[in-house]
Amino acid sequence: MTNHISLVGVGVLGKAMALRLRQCQYNISLYNRTASKAEALTGNGIHAVNSLSQLFTRKPSVILTCLTDAQAMKALFCLPEIESKLLEHRPLIVNTSTIGPQDSQQMEAFFQRQGAQYVEAPVSGGPEGARTGKLACWVGPIPPDFADVLPPLLSSLSDDYVVMDSNRAAQTMKVINNYCEAVHLLVAAESILLAEKSGISQATLQKALPLGRGRSAYMDVMLNRYLYPSDLISVPLAIRIKDLDLAHALFQERTVHSTFFTPIQRIYLKTAEALRPPQDQTACFAYLSKQSQQPELEA
Ligand SMILES: NC(=O)c1ccc[n+]([C@@H]2O[C@H](COP(=O)([O-])OP(=O)(O)OC[C@H]3O[C@@H](n4cnc5c(N)ncnc54)[C@H](OP(=O)(O)O)[C@@H]3O)[C@@H](O)[C@H]2O)c1
Repeated sequence: MTNHISLVGVGVLGKAMALRLRQCQYNISLYNRTASKAEALTGNGIHAVNSLSQLFTRKPSVILTCLTDAQAMKALFCLPEIESKLLEHRPLIVNTSTIGPQDSQQMEAFFQRQGAQYVEAPVSGGPEGARTGKLACWVGPIPPDFADVLPPLLSSLSDDYVVMDSNRAAQTMKVINNYCEAVHLLVAAESILLAEKSGISQATLQKALPLGRGRSAYMDVMLNRYLYPSDLISVPLAIRIKDLDLAHALFQERTVHSTFFTPIQRIYLKTAEALRPPQDQTACFAYLSKQSQQPELEA
């Protein structure tokens, strides 16, 4: 097994992944567009490089990506100097970013044209899941050339991953999962607001709300923020909105009519509009709360 991994993108999730992989004894090379974020993590088996092309130093190499979206991937990889590095080194690219099924096909075709192997591995569980190796992960087919390298890497990040039939299917499941998350988070926020307005104390709510079968993982996320307010960004609101755009594209492509999509998307967009960034996804509670006091805000 290789004990060296390159990681591209150390935002909220990528940073937590880097720390987890180091804990699992991987030596790590990092590249991030904003160099200071990668530099802040250097030392003790982690080193930062100034340009993406500096990651191509060994064969075979494994490059993990954790970037906002497919645009970010294209901006970094679809450049002549990187294409020639891909052709020369033929690395395995493991993409943990959420990019949706359509862009996944494009990225797969792009990397295959450059002689690289490409596997989707979008995740769920946020930085908390990454730090503890408890991410959920939907993985594309494992390339036989990397069958000894990829499973241990995935197991370091995810104690529960499912290998899907195709890269496209892996991203499709991730988009469906995130649609569920977006809906559950808002329903939890609204339920907590209702309990608050009904005079139920926080101490009681902490025990009473998750008691019944209305409970969901995202209720825990919302309840935790409500009970322990924090400015920490776990899932950036902008990422939640981007993932809803991917869900919208999937509903359209599969010609499935959604009853919930439009109002759900509207609340996340209104939250982004009404509150100053940086915002966590749980900012929707503050928006709903404000809105219930001044419904004219909605007009
Ligand atoms: N946060 C979560 O809980 C979570 C959970 C599951 C999945 N995800 C997925 O993981 C991915 C990363 O999420 P995140 O929360 O870590 O987001 P984030 O904190 O906003 O980080 C985004 C990363 O992408 C880079 N980037 C964006 N646009 C770029 C461009 N045009 N060129 C080069 N680099 C660019 C950023 O570089 P800079 O630092 O220079 O801006 C940063 O490294 C997303 O696809 C998200 O959907 C996130």
